[in-house]
Amino acid sequence: MTFALMTGDCRDLMPAHGPFDMILADPPYGDTSLAWDRRVDGWISIARHTLRPTGSMWIFGSLRSFMGTADRFSDAGLRLAQEIVWEKQNGSSFHADRFKRVHELAVQFYPVATPWRDIYNDVQTTPDAAARTIRRKHRPPHTGHIDASLYVSHDGGPRLMRSVIYARNAHSRAIHPTEKPVGLLEILIRTSCPEGGLVGDWFAGSGAAGEACRMSGRRYFGCEIDADMAGKARARIAAVLPFDCGKATP
Ligand SMILES: C[S@@+](CC[C@H](N)C(=O)[O-])C[C@H]1O[C@@H](n2cnc3c(N)ncnc32)[C@H](O)[C@@H]1O
Repeated sequence: MTFALMTGDCRDLMPAHGPFDMILADPPYGDTSLAWDRRVDGWISIARHTLRPTGSMWIFGSLRSFMGTADRFSDAGLRLAQEIVWEKQNGSSFHADRFKRVHELAVQFYPVATPWRDIYNDVQTTPDAAARTIRRKHRPPHTGHIDASLYVSHDGGPRLMRSVIYARNAHSRAIHPTEKPVGLLEILIRTSCPEGGLVGDWFAGSGAAGEACRMSGRRYFGCEIDADMAGKARARIAAVLPFDCGKATP
């Protein structure tokens, strides 16, 4: 199974290693004047051309970062599909005169040339349907007609995962200052990459997405520009047992 993480600029190195079933990208948001927080130009259109026609991209960012780059997605032939909110247990505050930020966004885009129904999409469910769930079997009139869905709700059965996902950040265990939780990445990977498919991680940082791929049986190709961090990420990924390690050998 492909598991590799290269050191260098993703814009130069990643195109040779596609096509990707899914791209995960957690670029510097460019929201602050901190030295490491510089927006990377040009990567969106380069990445889009490395995506399989049925693939999609999940990109982490703040609303500020997405508003500042909105036209780059449409220029690259990408359409917005949906977003999730990652809710953290604690946040960082650069300003004392605003709400404390305890969330980040991840936004999914897909190629405009592919109808949404053809994009790989395995909706995630949770097994915790409870009596408090509203048992409304008919869509409310204001939703109009929406195409038949992949998922049928049953009383007491699995229910669609909510778009606000709580996951603790790594904090004291973190290798990288903006490390994303493996559990959260795994949800996005299971949704948007088929089993055995290839995930391209364009701004790999600590390699958290590589660990999530190991856990979920997806192949992984990552890229990180900081050589020291790339080394730590490789060691981290190598230390995770591969998905199929428990299979009995004949
Ligand atoms: C927000 S962090 C990613 C954190 C990562 N998702 C994790 O969970 O550890 C962004 C990373 O992108 C790297 N980076 C910045 N520009 C890059 C480029 N042009 N190519 C590859 N990596 C880059 C930075 O060094 C930084 O480690």
